[in-house]
Amino acid sequence: MATETGAPVDTTKTALQVTDLIKQFGGGRSLLGRPLPAVHAVRGLSFEVRPGEILGIVGESGCGKSTVARMLVGLESPTEGRITLREEPLAEPGKPIKRTVLARKIQYVFQDPISSLNPRKTIREILSAPLYYLRGMTESQRAERLKELMAAVNLRPEFLDRYPHEFSGGQAQRIGIARALAAEPEVLVLDEPVSALDVSVQAQVLNLLQDLRRQFNLTYVFISHDLGVVRNLCDRVAVMYFGRIVETGSTRALFDNPQHHYTRLLLDSVPGARDGTLPDEAANAELPDPFHPPTGCAFAPRCSAASEQCRQSDPELDTRRQDGQQVACYHPAGESAD
Ligand SMILES: Nc1ncnc2c1ncn2[C@@H]1O[C@H](COP(=O)(O)OP(=O)(O)OP(=O)(O)O)[C@@H](O)[C@H]1O
Ligand SMILES: [Mg+2]
Repeated sequence: MATETGAPVDTTKTALQVTDLIKQFGGGRSLLGRPLPAVHAVRGLSFEVRPGEILGIVGESGCGKSTVARMLVGLESPTEGRITLREEPLAEPGKPIKRTVLARKIQYVFQDPISSLNPRKTIREILSAPLYYLRGMTESQRAERLKELMAAVNLRPEFLDRYPHEFSGGQAQRIGIARALAAEPEVLVLDEPVSALDVSVQAQVLNLLQDLRRQFNLTYVFISHDLGVVRNLCDRVAVMYFGRIVETGSTRALFDNPQHHYTRLLLDSVPGARDGTLPDEAANAELPDPFHPPTGCAFAPRCSAASEQCRQSDPELDTRRQDGQQVACYHPAGESAD
């Protein structure tokens, strides 16, 4: 089957599966035995990505997108939950995370290209490290692969002996992408990869990502708060609110027929993303307190459709909908509150 963006996706298989992922920071007890508050950054998250697919994750600042990304690449351990790559569990309850496998198969592209590269190392040294440590390549194999990597991201091989500060933002992000590709991963987790770039450079990097996906059969998890970029690039989208997925579906379904009131709010706050009214006052309220998550739906205080039920219990993602669109809402848009 072809994706919305035209690349082949194998819908019979799963590249990456995340089940009931939870991440709390802090917590535990003080020296005197008093319980310490924990930040509930990710509060039970499940999704899967098919081979060759681009899954977009959107949501406002602080909703837990980067925390999910960091768990996917093994930089953080989940408090609970599983991460499975092609049937192989890489993080599961009660067992140590398989960090080396994670690092080889799932790679991370960071938001800020220049500061994510070590300023004291040349590009050759930066790109050689994963080839040596994760792939065990000899010096001559590394030299060959470095040339291929630079060609893949459209950079001249003589740039290899320069330092990160000698590059523009767009070039530095190409190097960040080359570094992520070095270990020949199956999945790239791209955390706001173009947010720090000028619009014209953004387009070049996004085109490069599309080309690389086809060339190397990659699967992407693409995190962004830019709905325009997500709409153009992604096959499916998951909308996060306060550490949970509140709606997911094909990009077209989600943009044409958003069911969750938060998704509507997000789309309405972007001029031209969807025909709609401007968000009302409640829409500008802040996220709930991550130290004390509410019992009910976290969006209820901002939602015009919220009922007592929404304040009492948190709805699960509803899987009954057609074409895979799922929504975690007792009163989805278009259905009246009872
Ligand atoms: N190491 C940490 N220790 C304590 N709290 C943390 C830590 N990392 C993240 N958090 C908290 O977890 C929540 C989610 O943060 P996260 O960085 O994942 O959000 P985000 O969706 O990526 O936001 P942004 O769009 O601004 O990048 C926030 O409340 C944040 O303060
Ligand atoms: Mg982030």
